[in-house]
Amino acid sequence: MATLRTVLVTGANRGLGLGLATRLARREGYQVIATARDPQTATELHDLAVETGRVRLEQLDVSLEESIVRFAGRLGDVDRIDVLIHNAAITGYQELGELSIAAFSTVFETNVFGPAVLTRHVRSKLGRGSLIVLLSSFTGSIAGTDGRIGFPYRMSKAALNMFARQLSIQLRDEGIGVLLLRPGNAKTRMGGADAPLAVATSVDGMLGQIDNFSPAVHGEFVGYDGKIVPW
Ligand SMILES: NC(=O)c1ccc[n+]([C@@H]2O[C@H](COP(=O)([O-])OP(=O)(O)OC[C@H]3O[C@@H](n4cnc5c(N)ncnc54)[C@H](OP(=O)(O)O)[C@@H]3O)[C@@H](O)[C@H]2O)c1
Repeated sequence: MATLRTVLVTGANRGLGLGLATRLARREGYQVIATARDPQTATELHDLAVETGRVRLEQLDVSLEESIVRFAGRLGDVDRIDVLIHNAAITGYQELGELSIAAFSTVFETNVFGPAVLTRHVRSKLGRGSLIVLLSSFTGSIAGTDGRIGFPYRMSKAALNMFARQLSIQLRDEGIGVLLLRPGNAKTRMGGADAPLAVATSVDGMLGQIDNFSPAVHGEFVGYDGKIVPW
């Protein structure tokens, strides 16, 4: 029997994470480790697991080190992760007059420290040909900054970009790919009901970039539409 490709998706209970997990679990030859902060209420993932038989639902809060360590400890039976998708994130749109250490802390713990520390703890499952995907945002582009939407979220995605870039250099010789993706503005709880893109459009676009990953885009910041995003 052919070995299934294993994809790990964080924050897979709703939004783009659920869209990615759903598409991948329905693909022949794939299995998905889908994480949620509260698996009990992740009804769509439970249904997807029953429908496909290829979803493993795991508890993970990426902002808590002990949750990451416990989660990694439960992966003892997983030989290899082929694609690691860092999707989970929160917003933080405070302006200068609203800034506080607390406002930055939760956003950075979730959007930056979480993906970095999770990568550390599942590193042993990644091998030659594995791919680490990080969902960033155009709002993290310094070249594209237009002054809107507040500080913490923008700054967290710029920091995530630096993590990914640094990681790509360190993992290049080991044949582990790194890809930063811009999902586009999609209709999720984060993107809002007026966002121009359907979740399916963003998800299909991102999966196209993942499927077509090549050394030419290793460590690059690429849109769901395949366009390179300026740093
Ligand atoms: N939608 C857009 O327009 C857009 C644009 C640019 C970039 N992005 C990026 O795309 C990714 C997905 O966004 P989305 O629109 O799907 O957002 P979303 O609808 O708000 O979903 C966010 C997901 O992250 C999870 N999450 C939040 N904090 C977490 C934590 N501490 N530990 C584990 N999971 C946590 C949420 O779980 P709970 O249900 O437990 O809260 C939820 O599953 C994010 O990285 C976001 O920054 C989105």
